Amino acid sequence: MIATAIHRAALAALCLAAPPATAFSETSDADQRREAILALTPDAEYGAYLSSECTACHAEEGGDIPLIHGQDREALIDALLGYKTGTRSHDVMETIAGRLGDEEIAALAAYFSEVN
Ligand code: HEC
Repeated sequence: MIATAIHRAALAALCLAAPPATAFSETSDADQRREAILALTPDAEYGAYLSSECTACHAEEGGDIPLIHGQDREALIDALLGYKTGTRSHDVMETIAGRLGDEEIAALAAYFSEVN
């Protein structure tokens, strides 16, 4: 019991010590991040390059996995940010989106919104 209490206290201290920039769970942070991504000039060629990781699952046709080709750019950004920040949950996509930086999200959204 005491060990558990100490453990909890240590966890709480860790959480408090975390810099605000990592607290993506707060809506305002997610909103700011969304605005920052939208303000970038996306590099669709870089998106095409990165897309090979995605198209293994997101094929252009068939299957149970949603089609992302031709989706609205902002919707793609929102979905990827959602998985990244935890407002959308899906184990695989959370892992994948968690690794993507702003430039990469912008590039992928630009690429997939432009292809059909
Ligand atoms: C291992 C398979 C896999 C890979 C690789 C993968 N995805 Fe996904 N993705 C999924 C699945 C499954 C879903 C549906 C998840 C759900 O139900 O929320 C999904 C959902 C999405 C959605 C939301 C689509 C919608 O209409 O709701 C987007 C956007 C997306 N993925 C983008 C990407 C991008 C960009 C990459 C590459 C960086 C990628 N995915 C790589 C399996 C994958």
